[in-house]
Amino acid sequence: MEIIIQPTQAGATIVAARIIGSLMRKNPRAVLGLATGSTPLSLYRELIAMKLNWSQVTTFNLDEYVGLPREHEQSYHTFMWDNLFKHVNVAKKNVHIPDGSARDIPKFCAKYEQQIRDAGGIDLQVLGIGTDGHIGFNEPTSSLVSRTRIKTLTRQTIADNSRFFGGAHKVPHHVITMGIGTIMEARQLLLLAFGEKKARAVAEAVEGPIGAINPASMLQMHPAARFCLDDPAASQLRHSDYYRWVYENKPDWQKV
Ligand code: GLP
Repeated sequence: MEIIIQPTQAGATIVAARIIGSLMRKNPRAVLGLATGSTPLSLYRELIAMKLNWSQVTTFNLDEYVGLPREHEQSYHTFMWDNLFKHVNVAKKNVHIPDGSARDIPKFCAKYEQQIRDAGGIDLQVLGIGTDGHIGFNEPTSSLVSRTRIKTLTRQTIADNSRFFGGAHKVPHHVITMGIGTIMEARQLLLLAFGEKKARAVAEAVEGPIGAINPASMLQMHPAARFCLDDPAASQLRHSDYYRWVYENKPDWQKV
């Protein structure tokens, strides 16, 4: 794992955007896994400003609420089009977001997995992290080898996301999410976390034991996982001095 710590969210976002931009320039047909939530918003603004060529890029989103129509203002479908896709030249046919109104959810999930395989797998998956350590919507105790499927949100996640819905009672209880096994097959993982409220989940993920109780801890098993953190999100890491030192002393050929 590479733990990149920057003083501010803006700084960490620029590093993440540079990593994605460099991949897209090297591989114009890159397959990107994308995330929602407040964390990647600044990343998407930065990527839009970079005026990259998205015409041959394929995207797969991590998750979606079950029961929300696509056009619902809080659907992740709406989120992605409003905050990224409509500002870049991505081809609509190359955009994949789980369908929260699928009638046969297991069948839809199997098809989503197949679409990822057919696209040649995900080159780089962007991730946020929940305050409980979830990635995508893989809540604590999710199988570490899980595939795309339906999950039930924890009360913690419902409370965390109630700010978007104007009350916890309006947050759907069920979601479709790529599994941890699906996420782990991406060739690169890039997890972003900002702010002190993520500090505990980040410390457990990076330095704690690997376990389903903190799904993000599974990233320890990935050969190319990066965390892009601001100082507050890194504040509970015991070895932060080492991570900073490693990043500052990277040989030129290793720099993005
Ligand atoms: C959301 C998403 C996750 C996201 C996490 C953190 O509900 N399903 O993909 O990483 O929870 O959200 P935020 O970035 O708003 O803190």
